[in-house]
Amino acid sequence: MSFDRNIKIAPSILSADFANFGQEIQAIEAQGADWVHIDVMDGHFVPNLTFGPMAVKAFRPHVKTVMDVHLMIAPVDPYIDAYADAGADVLTAHIEAGPHIHRTLQAIRGAGMKAGIALNPGTPAEAVAHLLDLTDLVCVMTVNPGFGGQKFIDMSSKIRNLRAMIGDRPIHIEIDGGVDPTTAPLVVEAGADVLVAGSAVFKGGSVDSPEVYGENMRKIRSATQGVWA
Ligand code: DX5
Ligand code: ZN
Repeated sequence: MSFDRNIKIAPSILSADFANFGQEIQAIEAQGADWVHIDVMDGHFVPNLTFGPMAVKAFRPHVKTVMDVHLMIAPVDPYIDAYADAGADVLTAHIEAGPHIHRTLQAIRGAGMKAGIALNPGTPAEAVAHLLDLTDLVCVMTVNPGFGGQKFIDMSSKIRNLRAMIGDRPIHIEIDGGVDPTTAPLVVEAGADVLVAGSAVFKGGSVDSPEVYGENMRKIRSATQGVWA
């Protein structure tokens, strides 16, 4: 997995057909997804439950791009090896999930994955100041985590602060929650390069009409074009 700051669209399969993940992943990749975002929820850190490591391992053979696994679980550390074994390329833990995020990031990299830190809307950018050398991605939540389809919360000033703190380091800024053609330009202008989108990618489409996914992704991508120039 090489580093670049081009805009990447990472559809969240939280909005896919839960009876048909293999074909859904193939459809979004064929239609131009750059990464595949997998939302792991434990019913404890967030009030919803989704996938465990066995499900994520079953998704792996279908993902030809980058498998981006967002853990909304606490604790994190006992499960790091299981998600490495499941084949995660990027494993992101919430800074709010426990007292030892520094150790968690070391363990994620130690298990051979890229290490991400996610920040809830109430957590300031400065919380990652002493973690950046251990980090490959900072995920700025623009909703309170737990559900797809929520209203975007503007975190532009946090993203700008992070962009300045990161400087030339090879660290992605990912935005997660309420990203659509209206909000995408705001976050890209502030410095984001990975755009997670669930409802805005999957709405109106299906594996039988995958061109809708492609059109939805094109709308998000084209809304961001030229924003950085
Ligand atoms: C929220 C998840 C998101 C979510 C995004 O807890 O982390 O990835 O699926 O969904 P939308 O794009 O519908 O806000
Ligand atoms: Zn997510």
